[in-house]
Amino acid sequence: MHFEEFVTLAPYTTLHIGGPARWFAEARTDEEVAEAVRFARARALPFFVLGGGSNLLVRDAGFAGLVIHMGLRGIRQDEGRFAVAAGEAWDSFVSHAVERGYAGIECLAGIPGTVGATPVQNVGAYGQEVAETIVRVRAFDTKTDKIVDLAAAECGFAYRRSLFNSVKRGRYIVTAVTYALRAAGEPRLSYADLQRRFPAGTRPTLEEVSETVREIRQGKGMLIVEGEPDCRSAGSFFKNPVVEQAHYARIAGDAAAAVPSYPAGEGRVKLPAAWLVEHAGFPKGYTMGRAGISSRHTLALINRGEATADDVLALAERIKAAVREKFGVELEMEPVVLG
Ligand code: EPU
Repeated sequence: MHFEEFVTLAPYTTLHIGGPARWFAEARTDEEVAEAVRFARARALPFFVLGGGSNLLVRDAGFAGLVIHMGLRGIRQDEGRFAVAAGEAWDSFVSHAVERGYAGIECLAGIPGTVGATPVQNVGAYGQEVAETIVRVRAFDTKTDKIVDLAAAECGFAYRRSLFNSVKRGRYIVTAVTYALRAAGEPRLSYADLQRRFPAGTRPTLEEVSETVREIRQGKGMLIVEGEPDCRSAGSFFKNPVVEQAHYARIAGDAAAAVPSYPAGEGRVKLPAAWLVEHAGFPKGYTMGRAGISSRHTLALINRGEATADDVLALAERIKAAVREKFGVELEMEPVVLG
C-alpha cells in the first residue's frame, strides 16, 4: 500500500474545500485498513477515515495526520442480504438494489457518499433510514486490532446517530455493511413530498420512487451535479433541533408564519433547521463573500467558487447567532470538521 505526502483534500470533498493531509493512503482491503492504522500509530499520528467526503468540512490548514481513503469495493448478495464493501458509492448500491426489485432503501436514492458512512450517522431521508435495513456492520476495531461483526442492535442507532459517531467515536473503521432488503417489496411512501407525487391509489414502482427522490433532491440542491456551483455543499449543514413543546409554542406564538414541526417523543418536537435559518433572516441564495446559501434550500451552505473553510464557518457562525438570538435555539453543525 502506498502512503503519499501532502495530498490536498479539497478534491475529495463535495464542498471542494480543505488543505493538505500530511499523509494519505487508499485502503482496498481489511488488511490494508489495519496496515494504515499501524502506519499512523508508528508515527504517533491521528488518522481520519475518508469516504465520499460529502459530509465533511476540511479546515484550510489541512490535517496533520493520516487520511485513510476507503477504497474497498464489492457487493455480495445472498437472497435479500447484500454485503457491501465500505468504499462502494451509496447511490450506485441503491440503483443496484432497486434494479433487482429489492425494497428498503429506494427513498435514500441520490444521497452522496459511500456505503461505509451510512451506519455512522444513520443516513436517513424521505421516510427511510438505514437503521431499518442494516443487519450487520463489519469493522476494524482499533482497540483490539481485530475485525468485528456488530449486529444492528449493538450499533446504537438514533436520528443521525450511532455508537460510531457518539460513545465509540474513533474506535471502529467500518469496512462493510450488510443490508436486509425485501424482494419484490413495495416502495415506502410516507414522506409528504412523495405522497404529493404519488397520491393514494397509485402504485409506483421502486424505480419510479427512487427517480422521484433524485428529482426532489435535485430541486432542493441536495443532489451533487458536477459543475453546478449551487450544489457544492455538504448537504444539510445543521441538524434539525429538538425542543420542548413549551419552547415550540413560544416560537409559534411569536412567528408571523406557521411553524412546521414533527413529533419527537414525549413533550418534544423537532423543528426544521431550514425554516429557522430562513426566518432568522437568511433567505435562499444569501451570499457572504465566497460562501453562501443554496438558492434551493437554506440548509445547504455552499462554496460559491473559491471559498475557504473559514469563509463557510464564518457564515455558519453568523447563522447560528441569528437563530439563537431570534428563537433561542442552538443549532448544531451536521458535517464533520477535520483539522
Ligand atoms: N424549509 C424552509 N426553507 C428551505 C427548505 C425547507 O423553510 O429552504 C422548511 C420547510 O418548512 C420544509 C421543512 O423546512 O417543510 C423541511 O424541509 P425538507 O423537507 O427539505 O427537509 P429537511 O428537514 O430540511 C431533512 C434531512 C435531509 C433529508 C431531508 C429529506 C436533516 C438535517 N436533514 O432535511 O438530509 O434529505 O430531510 O428527508 O435531517 C442531510 O442530512 O445532509 C440531508 C440532506
